[in-house]
Amino acid sequence: MAVTDRSMTVEDAVTTRRSVRAFRDTPVPRETVERLLGLAARSASNSNSQPWHVHVVTGGAKDSLTRALWAALDDGRFGTDPRYPYQPAPDDWVEPYRSRRSAFGRALYQDTLGIDRGDRDARAGHHRRNYAFFGAPVGLILTVGADLGCGAFVDAGLFLQALMLLARADGLDTCAQASFVDFDLVIRHELSIPDDRIVICGMSLGYADEAERVNAFRSRREPLEAIATFVDG
Ligand SMILES: Cc1cc2nc3c(=O)[nH]c(=O)nc-3n(C[C@H](O)[C@H](O)[C@H](O)COP(=O)(O)O)c2cc1C
Repeated sequence: MAVTDRSMTVEDAVTTRRSVRAFRDTPVPRETVERLLGLAARSASNSNSQPWHVHVVTGGAKDSLTRALWAALDDGRFGTDPRYPYQPAPDDWVEPYRSRRSAFGRALYQDTLGIDRGDRDARAGHHRRNYAFFGAPVGLILTVGADLGCGAFVDAGLFLQALMLLARADGLDTCAQASFVDFDLVIRHELSIPDDRIVICGMSLGYADEAERVNAFRSRREPLEAIATFVDG
C-alpha cells in the first residue's frame, strides 16, 4: 500500500495526480477521509460561501447507489438538473474543445483499452464502471447549493482540486466524475438530497490498481502558448 508522504510538494502532488479508473479494494480509513475533507474545506470560496457538500458512500450504501444507477442507466432514465446544463450535447461541442475531447476518447478507449470506435457495447461496458466508482472503496457525491449562480461551481472546482491533491499526499488516487451528473434525480432520491442542492460531480477515492491497463493512460496538455496570454506594458 502506498504510504502517506508528508514531504510531497504541491508540485509533486500536481504532477503525480491523474485520473485513476481501476482501484484496489484496500479500504480507506474513515479518519483519513474526514481529514482530507476537512482540509479541502479550507479552499477559498466566493464571500466564504462554502457552497459545497459531500456525501461519502462506502460499503452497502455505495453498492446500493451503484445498483440504482445501473438500473437507471439500463432503463435510459437519465435525469439531469435543468438548472445546470453541464456540457454541450456530443454534436454541439465547438473547436478547439471538440478535437481535444475526441483525442481524449481515442487515447483512452482505442489506444489504452483497445476498444474500437464502433464497439458500442465495449464502450458502454467501460462507461458503466463509472457508477461502481471504478471499484474504489470510497465514493463521493459533491453537491452545491442551487441558485447560487456559476460562481458556486468555480468554488466547488477548487474544493475538488484540493481534495485530489491532498489525496495524493496520502498515497491515494482519485477520479473526478461528471458522469454522475446524468443521474442527478436518481442520486438525490437515493441519498435523500433535497432539491435545493445540485449534484455537480462524483469522485472515486482509493488506491490505484496499477495492474489494470486503464491506469496506464496518461493525458496530454496543450502548450503554454495555447492557454496563457501575457499582456505587458
Ligand atoms: C469535473 C470533471 C469531471 C470528470 N468526469 C469524468 C467521468 O465522468 N469519468 C471519467 O472516467 N473521467 C472523468 N474525468 C476525468 C477527465 O477525463 C480527466 O481529468 C482528463 O482527461 C485529464 O486527465 P487526468 O485527470 O488523468 O490528468 C473528469 C474530470 C473532471 C475534472
